Amino acid sequence: MSQYRPLSAVVLAAGEGTRMRSETPKVLHPLCGRPMLLHVIDALVALPLERIVVVVGHGAERVTKTLQEQLATELAVEFVEQRVQRGTGDAASVALTGGVFDLDAEDDLLVVPGDTPLLSAETLATLARAHREADAAATVLTAILDPPTGYGRVVRDANGAVDHIVEHADATPDELEVTEISTSIYCFRRGLLAPALRRLSPENAQGEYYLTDAVSVLKETGHAVIGVAADDPYETAGVNDRAQLAEVEATLRRRINRRWMRDGVSMTDPERTYVDATVELEPDVHLLPGTVLAGRTVVGARSVIGPDAQLTDTIVGEGAVVRQTVAHEVEIGDDATVGPFAFLRPGTRLAARAHVGTFVEIKNSDIGEGAKVPHLAYIGDAEIGDGANIGAGTITANYDGREKHRTKVGKDARISSNTVLVAPVEVGDEAYTGAGAVVTRDVPPRAMAKGVPAEITEGWLDKREAERD
Ligand code: UD1
Ligand code: CA
Repeated sequence: MSQYRPLSAVVLAAGEGTRMRSETPKVLHPLCGRPMLLHVIDALVALPLERIVVVVGHGAERVTKTLQEQLATELAVEFVEQRVQRGTGDAASVALTGGVFDLDAEDDLLVVPGDTPLLSAETLATLARAHREADAAATVLTAILDPPTGYGRVVRDANGAVDHIVEHADATPDELEVTEISTSIYCFRRGLLAPALRRLSPENAQGEYYLTDAVSVLKETGHAVIGVAADDPYETAGVNDRAQLAEVEATLRRRINRRWMRDGVSMTDPERTYVDATVELEPDVHLLPGTVLAGRTVVGARSVIGPDAQLTDTIVGEGAVVRQTVAHEVEIGDDATVGPFAFLRPGTRLAARAHVGTFVEIKNSDIGEGAKVPHLAYIGDAEIGDGANIGAGTITANYDGREKHRTKVGKDARISSNTVLVAPVEVGDEAYTGAGAVVTRDVPPRAMAKGVPAEITEGWLDKREAERD
C-alpha cells in the first residue's frame, strides 16, 4: 500500500570534477549562461518539495555563493558540507546526518547528482510517482545507453528486478555488456536509506563509498528496489569532462531554440544560434546565423539580429536591426539600426530610430532619437542630440591622459567628417563643424566651427610634470 510521505531532495555537488581539469568546480561550469548546478536545481524547484539540501565540498564557498546569488525561489535551499570527498554514498550520508533532516520523520528523498543539467521536473515527478506506487525502498532511474561506457551498470536478477549496480571500473566482462545504466538519480525512503548507508564499504576500484551499493544493501535486507527507465536517455546524461559538457550544452541549446521558435521567433539556422537560458525574446524576432545572445538580453518584437552579433545584457526594442555587432550592457531603441561592424560598450543608449553604422565604437553615451553615427567614429562619454548627424572619422577626445570628460552635441547639429571634439565641450543645437575641425571650445547654437588649432609648445610634458610635482 502506498502512503503519502512528504518529498525532499538532496543534490550531490561536492565532487572536484577532476576530469574537467579546471580551477572552477565542475558544477559551476555554465551551460547556456547558467551554472550546471542551477539547471538541476531549476528542475527540482518546479516540484512540490519540502526542502532541497545541497551537499557542497570542493569549492564549497564559491558554489554556495553562486547559488545564493542566482537562485530565485521561495523554497529553502540548505547547504551541508562534505569536507572530504569519500564518494557519492558518503555525500548522501553527510546530507542525512548534517542536521537538516528531522531523524524521526518519514519522507521520500530524491537524490540527484549536480552534474545532470538536462534533467526535467517531469522525469523527477514520474520517478517519485513510480516509487510511491510500488511502495519501494529505493527506485533507480535507469537509461538504456549504447555504448554505456563509464556509467554504473544496472544488473537485474532472473525475475527482472534490480539486483545491484556495478561501477564501470568494478564490472566483470559480462556486466560490461549491460546497456542499462544507473543515471545516479534515485528516490529513497529516507528512513531506510540511512541505515543502508551505514553498511557501505569502500572496497572497490576507487576506494570510495558508492551510493549505488545502497541499492544492493536494501535488496539484501529484504526491501523492494525497483528500476524505472527514463523516456529520454539523453535527459539524464552526466557531465564528467569538457567533451560531455559541449554535447550536453548543444542539447540544451536545441531545447531553448525549439522553445523560442514555438513562441514565434524565427531562426535561419538554429544550429548556429546561441541563446542563453536567461534571455527573453518577443514574437517575430528573427535571429540570423552567428547570433550569440547572453545574460539578461531582451529582444523586442520584430527586431532582426545578426548575422554574427554578440549581445550581452543588452535590451533591444521593437523593430530594430542589429547586424555584425558586439554589444555589452547597452540599450537599443525601437526601430534603431546598428552595424554592420559596430562595437557598443557599457552605458550606450540608442534612442528610437537612431542609426549606428560601420566601424563605430560607442561607450557610455546617449544617442538621440533619429540621430546618426554612420561610419568610422568613436563616441565616448557623450550625449548626441535628437536628429544630429556625426560625420565619418569623428571622435570625441574624452580622455586627457588623466580624466574622462563629457561631450554634448545639440539637436540637429551637423558634425562634419574628421571632427575632433575635445572634451569637455558642447556643440549647440543646429550648429555645424567643418571637415577636420578640432573643437576645443563650446560652439553656440546655429554657429559654425572650422579649422585646426594645432600650435606646438616645446617642452610641454616637462612643464606639465613639473606642475604636478
Ligand atoms: C555516478 C554513479 C554511476 C552513474 C553515474 C551517472 C556512483 C558511485 N556512481 O558516477 O553509477 O552511472 O554517476 O552519471 O555513484 N559527489 C559528491 N561527493 C563525493 C563524490 C561525488 O558530492 O564524494 C558528487 C559529484 O559532485 C557529482 C555526483 O556526486 O555531482 C556524481 O559523482 P561523479 O564522480 O560524477 O560520479 P560518476 O563517476 O559520474
Ligand atoms: Ca558524473
